[in-house]
Amino acid sequence: MSSIRIIHGENEDVMESLYAGGERFALAYLDPPFASQRDYKTASGELAFSDKWRNLETYLNELEHRLTLARDLLIDEGSLVLHLDCSAVHEAKLICDKVFGRVCFASEIIWRYRRWPAKTRNFQRMHDVLLRYVRDPNVECRFNQLCEPLANSTLEQWGTGKQRAVHNTAGRRVRSIATEEAALVPLSDVWEISIIAPSSDERTVYPTQKPEELIWRLVESLTNVGDSVLDPYCGSGSVPAVCAKRDRGCVSIDSSPVAIRMANERLAPLLAQGSLFARSQ
Ligand SMILES: C[S@@+](CC[C@H](N)C(=O)[O-])C[C@H]1O[C@@H](n2cnc3c(N)ncnc32)[C@H](O)[C@@H]1O
Repeated sequence: MSSIRIIHGENEDVMESLYAGGERFALAYLDPPFASQRDYKTASGELAFSDKWRNLETYLNELEHRLTLARDLLIDEGSLVLHLDCSAVHEAKLICDKVFGRVCFASEIIWRYRRWPAKTRNFQRMHDVLLRYVRDPNVECRFNQLCEPLANSTLEQWGTGKQRAVHNTAGRRVRSIATEEAALVPLSDVWEISIIAPSSDERTVYPTQKPEELIWRLVESLTNVGDSVLDPYCGSGSVPAVCAKRDRGCVSIDSSPVAIRMANERLAPLLAQGSLFARSQ
């Protein structure tokens, strides 16, 4: 039976003991601090975690070590998703290439969100980046195709007819013709998902909480029912919440007592309803 476990501790130690215990996962979702050089507090002012580093090198060394531990916990068909923003994602991409091998790079997903615009002397930052790597490039990785509706601009210009190019005898594309109808198309790597509204049911007071819709897309496309997900940066418990609702197991780890308290509070009603069981350590 799949289980949901929320573990209080340093993720490095916990991942080492999971490895020694022979546990393996279909998906590792890493949502670490982003190297923002800030402290993060809950809505009531409690310190949730600190994202202040001596320098970027220290941050990247710690990240590399955890990426290596998480990689070794994947099944051959598994994949790892690293969630960051432009503060460190470019350096982290090179580290992932080293840890997994460049050939294991699978996707760069852009999570595009909207928030209240503010005047800045720059283009306003409104996206995060999720890098996906497969464990073994010679094995077919778990992948369940998700679909999305056609964009309004595509519908206006082309309708719902799937387009096929028509070429002339010289091989030049001269026009397109509509073939079969396609109202839904395979999900692309740009995901438009709103940040969590203050009035939303899923909203906790934890800072940096990610929307369940975002986690749902990863869990649904990259795991099967009964698989387990590794979540070494649990925060408010978004990953175990989605796993509990989608019949996946999960091990979530956090060193912050505030995060563990919040995740346990969030999971309690979900676990009381379902067949899954929780163990908090
Ligand atoms: C960006 S937040 C995760 C947010 C989470 N995905 C959510 O939706 O609520 C990062 C979390 O990682 C935790 N963390 C940072 N370094 C850690 C470490 N070395 N071991 C365990 N947890 C750590 C922090 O306490 C923080 O809760």
